Amino acid sequence: MLYFIKSMCYNEIEVRNLTVQIEKLDHYGRGITRINDKICFVENALPKEIVEIKIIKETKKYFLATTTKIIKKSEDRTDIPCPYTNQCGGCNLAHLSFEKENEFKTEKVKEIMNKFAKIDSKIIKEIVYDKPYHYRNKITLHTNGNKIGLYQKESNTITPITKCLLLNDKLNEELGNIKPKTKKDIILKIGNKTDEILSPTNKNNYIISYIGNKKYKISEKSFFQVNSVITEKLYEEIKRIIQDKKSKNVLDLYCGTGTIGIYIHECVDKVLGIESCKEAVEDANDNKELNNATNCTYKLGKVEDLTTELTKEYDTAIIDPPRSGLHKNVIKKLLEITPKNLIYISCDPVTLARDLNLLKEKYEIEYIRPYNMFSRTYHVECCTVLSLKKGKKEEEVKNGIYRN
Ligand SMILES: C[S@@+](CC[C@H](N)C(=O)[O-])C[C@H]1O[C@@H](n2cnc3c(N)ncnc32)[C@H](O)[C@@H]1O
Repeated sequence: MLYFIKSMCYNEIEVRNLTVQIEKLDHYGRGITRINDKICFVENALPKEIVEIKIIKETKKYFLATTTKIIKKSEDRTDIPCPYTNQCGGCNLAHLSFEKENEFKTEKVKEIMNKFAKIDSKIIKEIVYDKPYHYRNKITLHTNGNKIGLYQKESNTITPITKCLLLNDKLNEELGNIKPKTKKDIILKIGNKTDEILSPTNKNNYIISYIGNKKYKISEKSFFQVNSVITEKLYEEIKRIIQDKKSKNVLDLYCGTGTIGIYIHECVDKVLGIESCKEAVEDANDNKELNNATNCTYKLGKVEDLTTELTKEYDTAIIDPPRSGLHKNVIKKLLEITPKNLIYISCDPVTLARDLNLLKEKYEIEYIRPYNMFSRTYHVECCTVLSLKKGKKEEEVKNGIYRN
């Protein structure tokens, strides 16, 4: 069997260490090259680099390889400051400069929007970013016997760690106090501006965290954005949009602990939050009290099961689903009640593009702004602003669908 690389040919015995040139990065931050016209994804390799690789997997459609030696190094490559880099699968982009990481994420969003939703790249705004390391306010540790740490890439094998560069410094200190006792996962969280720590050693079952001047109670199982600095920038943008659009009645779908609705509650008449995690709804009700947000109401349940709550009285819907995106019944209902404005927050551009493709039937996409919520990884958050197409509401009033 022969492999052809850049018009050179190797036989199978010589091929153990192939030399290839990397064309570009894929959406997971892996280098792309071709071997005998078959695509090959190369871990830890950057565009234009010439690297020696070892193939670790072959399927009908692609090869997967690791870099064994860098022969020609990219000027965008940085030294990786983490001792666990070859074991832990967390920081897929730690070898790329932070500046290029932000460019990569912007391009990734543009490509995905274009490919899956035919969205023009002109409407993708500049990415919002902060610092590359020490931004995480939460870590989930896995334990097994005396081992405590993070899972290795695509496996349940634990790499013991004493610190993580993505993590808030004070949580790294706390990490040293954790003793593995059970086979259960251990969750550590830290409150923004309060430095309160939720951990098995201090027996708190909740902490208080601030975003802007709003105060939030967070318990172990409730969702809270992992990067508090970027979250504040994102919530400020949402608040600006709500004020510009003069929103009055707002749906806060997939509301978690009620964070977004509470952040903007003074600007609107009322907010209805829907959330499927019981602890998060309990926290949302406490957060309502903590912030005197008397115009906020919370309902426990899956949004797709509570679509009767989504009525035409709402002029704005803030939508912040998990990676899987929106259930088709939720999209159907939004297209039926047609709030004038949608603000869609997403942590997965692929499911976002899928949903925008359907929402485009009645909505104009004003813009999409990427947020680097998860520095050094390939993940990217997006804030999309949609407005009802002109004429759609009038058309529905005429047909008797819309009554105000
Ligand atoms: C990305 S988080 C957003 C939380 C919140 N908006 C925030 O910014 O903190 C998604 C939330 O949706 C909740 N969730 C997941 N599936 C759901 C569903 N089908 N219906 C309602 N909530 C759901 C999760 O528990 C989680 O709190």
